[in-house]
Amino acid sequence: GKVRAPTHIISTISDDRGEEPCYAGVPMSSIVEQGLGVGDVISLLWFKRSLPRYCTKFIEICIMLCADHGPCVSGAHNSIVTARAGKDLVSSLVSGLLTIGPRFGGAIDDAARYFKDAYDGGLTPYEFVESMKKKGIRVPGIGHRIKRGDNRDKRVELLQRFARSNFPSVKYMEYAVQVETYTLSKANNLVMNVDGAIGSLFLDLLAGSGMFTKQEVDEIVEIGYLNGLFVLARSIGLIGHTFDQKRLKQPLYRHPWEDVLYTK
Ligand code: ACO
Ligand code: LMR
Repeated sequence: GKVRAPTHIISTISDDRGEEPCYAGVPMSSIVEQGLGVGDVISLLWFKRSLPRYCTKFIEICIMLCADHGPCVSGAHNSIVTARAGKDLVSSLVSGLLTIGPRFGGAIDDAARYFKDAYDGGLTPYEFVESMKKKGIRVPGIGHRIKRGDNRDKRVELLQRFARSNFPSVKYMEYAVQVETYTLSKANNLVMNVDGAIGSLFLDLLAGSGMFTKQEVDEIVEIGYLNGLFVLARSIGLIGHTFDQKRLKQPLYRHPWEDVLYTK
């Protein structure tokens, strides 16, 4: 019989061997003809399925809201300094992207993991927050450098408002809101941040849409797909900051001595 030559790569998300590339089996022409958007393309290439419109719209809102947050945040600062050092677009972009992590923009997966474990495990918000404190772990998705109880993050409000009127269930989000109520009773800086909003709401999207098995939800949370949303979104802003610096012909950046405490 026929013997299949062994392959060195397995790929399941896209195929370019036919007349046109397909994303998860859907030909590109069909994506364009149906008027689909970037949320649909993410659904196909990341989740390997078409998702209902409210889900793809939610993904698109996440991308739009996280695209930029001004020049002062870690990522934009790095991209600006790199662009001003005369480096190219890709170097400036990745220099900014490399700041995304547990403190900045990359807390979405951990927020989803911890909120899911706490909610599914039946912990009250008080028990959850206090157990994290005992372990010496900051609650991912809670806390912000400039946002406060009396100056909330508008992005969080916009995401929650969309989900409340479009998602079949927002139980994880409501749990995260209760966690925030408790953390805010401890300190005014412990608001829900955009990572916490996306992390908890994506749990609701995964669990409530009926499009994923329980096992698939667990796998997505365990592998950690969700920081990808911030990485993708913020690339838009970091590219913008790079172009901005080049357009403005900004010189090499050097941090002022006055802003450094030189000490022994
Ligand atoms: N859980 C518990 N306690 C917290 C948390 C938290 N998530 N965040 C801050 N605190 C406490 C700190 O322990 C500190 O208390 P202490 O002075 O008694 O030690 C106090 O609040 C002040 O903390 P700071 O370190 O001054 O807060 P900072 O402004 O430096 O940190 C940060 C902001 C990094 C976002 C922090 O809140 C945090 O680590 N949050 C969890 C990670 C996270 O969600 N990151 C995403 C932020 S959103 C974004 O980047 C797009
Ligand atoms: C962001 O989206 O970059 C911000 O939430 C972070 C910040 O420190 O403002």
